[in-house]
Amino acid sequence: MRLAVGATATVVVLSLLLVLVAAQEEAGATDEIHARAKRSNDFVGGARKLDDKDAEERLQASLDKLAAGDGPNYRISEIYSATTQVVSGTLTKIDAELVNEHNEKERCIVKIWSRTWLPNGIEVTFKCPNKELVKRRHSRSVEHLEKKTHKKHNHHSLDKSEHLFSKFQIKYNRRYHTALEHQMRLRIFKQNLEIIQELNRNEMGSAKYGITEFADLTTDEYRQRTGLWQRSEDKPSKNMPAVIPNVELPKEFDWREKGVISKVKNQGTCGSCWAFSVTGNVEGLHAVKTGKLEEYSEQELLDCDTKDSACNGGLMDNAYEALQNIGGLELESDYPYEGHKDQCQFNKAKVHVKVTGGVDLPKNETAIAQWLITNGPVSIGINANAMQFYRGGVSHPWKALCSKKNLDHGVLIVGYGVSDYPMFKKTLPYWIVKNSWGPKWGEQGYYRVYRGDNTCGVSEMASSAVIG
Ligand SMILES: *[C@@H]1O[C@H](CO)[C@@H](O)[C@H](O)[C@H]1NC(C)=O
Repeated sequence: MRLAVGATATVVVLSLLLVLVAAQEEAGATDEIHARAKRSNDFVGGARKLDDKDAEERLQASLDKLAAGDGPNYRISEIYSATTQVVSGTLTKIDAELVNEHNEKERCIVKIWSRTWLPNGIEVTFKCPNKELVKRRHSRSVEHLEKKTHKKHNHHSLDKSEHLFSKFQIKYNRRYHTALEHQMRLRIFKQNLEIIQELNRNEMGSAKYGITEFADLTTDEYRQRTGLWQRSEDKPSKNMPAVIPNVELPKEFDWREKGVISKVKNQGTCGSCWAFSVTGNVEGLHAVKTGKLEEYSEQELLDCDTKDSACNGGLMDNAYEALQNIGGLELESDYPYEGHKDQCQFNKAKVHVKVTGGVDLPKNETAIAQWLITNGPVSIGINANAMQFYRGGVSHPWKALCSKKNLDHGVLIVGYGVSDYPMFKKTLPYWIVKNSWGPKWGEQGYYRVYRGDNTCGVSEMASSAVIG
């Protein structure tokens, strides 16, 4: 009986809460209409006034990004006035009092020119008295998303993201040293929640995006977990073109089932993806050839491959060439991973596999599959935009959110398959991609990405070592 009363009380409380939430949202909608009516009167020669709160949010978002990069380090003391103008992008001008790292106040004009479709598309200039103009650029802004959604940021949704943030901190064991850092990370986290929403809203496959261990990182910090260089036009790769066997493709194929793929590794905070892509490829080729799966050393590549730049990035092509000169790869257990560059301690007597060069695969996903089932796993470059918040499923982001031009991460294709969703009359062919962010990321360390339309540039830079 007591139980029944308790349950009824809970239902009543819950219904009350729902009514309250609905009322709050309605109030939000009315505010939005008033705000819009007010805004439309503000046009002055193309530039419109921006209210102080909006200006502060925009400026703070940029200051956070810059503080996490190469500065300058300013705090906002007061906003005097601000305008925004649609140019090529949006140009926001803010007259503000800022506090610099020496705790001195400066009154500056800050211009934020935002062209979100460009890499590093946000340009910020600070014009402060008696100082040279400071100009900086930073990456992906979420202003345009914020603009759309920030009216919804009433207290109820703020509390919700703060609640998610504390859960995130507990789950991933995050401790911030100062209250300032905590605030900064919370702001970044909130911006990332918006990006997650945007990815989910525009997803054409079955992938889900959500909070991952990277949810409190700026885009620049996240990039430290990748590390692929862009192949330069004037230095074409020395690889030979791969010979594509004319074989019929089975519906599905997975090298993991044949025991030629080692466990998922973790590159850590070091831009060494390229080295992991290469060892995964060579491990697979060697196991297919000899029937014996060995794990090879990424650290050897970090320390001894002078054509690449260890934690500052590299190219798989360069590594094949470097390995030819070095003499081969040692075992992971003989030359373990440290995650930073160290002295080269290569020992020729410990070489377990020789690399005699590399091959480039055509930019053709059918041909890549034919080569893969015949030879072994394939190294690829990919745009990692959709991977920061990937939680599983077949990832097929909208092209504008994952350009094939910005390959920034080196990974390994180990197989392919097809997902059928008869309920939605949807068939999703996909690649199975081994990543190097540990087994907790994605689907036990793997990423499934749509196959057939060069999603995120999967077929742009496919290659393989040739082993001796
Ligand atoms: C891609 O490769 C397949 C098989 O190797 C071939 O039949 C097809 O014509 C190629 N497609 C293009 C666009 O070159």
